[in-house]
Amino acid sequence: MIEDVIKISKEAGEIIRNGFGTNFNIEFKTNESNLVTEIDKASEKLITAFIKKNYPTHGILAEEGGETKNSSEYLWVVDPLDGTTNFAHGLPIFSVSIGVQKNGKTIAGVVYDVMQDIVYSAEQGSGAFANGKKISVGKNDKLSRSVLVTGFPYDVAGNPENIFKIFEALTKASRGLRRLGSAAIDFCYVAKGVFDGFWEISLNSWDICGGKLILEEAGGIVTDFYGNEIDIFSRKILATNRLIHNSMIEILKNN
Ligand code: IPD
Ligand code: CA
Ligand code: CA
Repeated sequence: MIEDVIKISKEAGEIIRNGFGTNFNIEFKTNESNLVTEIDKASEKLITAFIKKNYPTHGILAEEGGETKNSSEYLWVVDPLDGTTNFAHGLPIFSVSIGVQKNGKTIAGVVYDVMQDIVYSAEQGSGAFANGKKISVGKNDKLSRSVLVTGFPYDVAGNPENIFKIFEALTKASRGLRRLGSAAIDFCYVAKGVFDGFWEISLNSWDICGGKLILEEAGGIVTDFYGNEIDIFSRKILATNRLIHNSMIEILKNN
């Protein structure tokens, strides 16, 4: 199955790459910051058609409305273009993210970094890979020497959950902080040791599903802000190399 997930992620990535920088249609979702382009929709259409053709009994949960609810034990969780704001503004950081669950557990995950042409992939229990090469989280155990990454929800203007206070505290406590704009890539960058930690307050299942498995298979951990285990439907995530997890929890708890 993982080969199929990789294949369709790359095909969707090709649609996105070909659309990058062209004059595509853009619509607003909940507000002027929350965009969807015709390329998001074309990518999703390709992926859902592939699943329906090749795995006709499986359920689908996809960001732009492509949902197939049924009683299958399998569920494909699809973000057809993660990083739409970057894509729409010409910043080449975005991905396709697909996770496949069986009875509520993710068994396969793929994140395709479209412009770098890197496929991150993992199957439950078999490690994590970037273009077929094994990847592992970093070994840094000091928050003060860590570079962290985060993202903001589309209602950030209202300062939900004290988001800016946390941002300030973790900026001061770490070596540096980045905001890339694709949560799926954020997970993968922790998985390969570029970053040591990633947190975000309001993600969706399609942002989390593929990347969470990839990070866990690379030796990392994903919990809520208190260290509790989460599933893909939790909104708040803390994803780290394990070694700085408790130091980040201390700061998240107190802010
Ligand atoms: C967004 C990106 C971004 C994160 C947002 C997500 P989208 O996904 O992953 O990094 O900060 O919370 O909604 O809308 O580009 O698929
Ligand atoms: Ca997303
Ligand atoms: Ca998306």
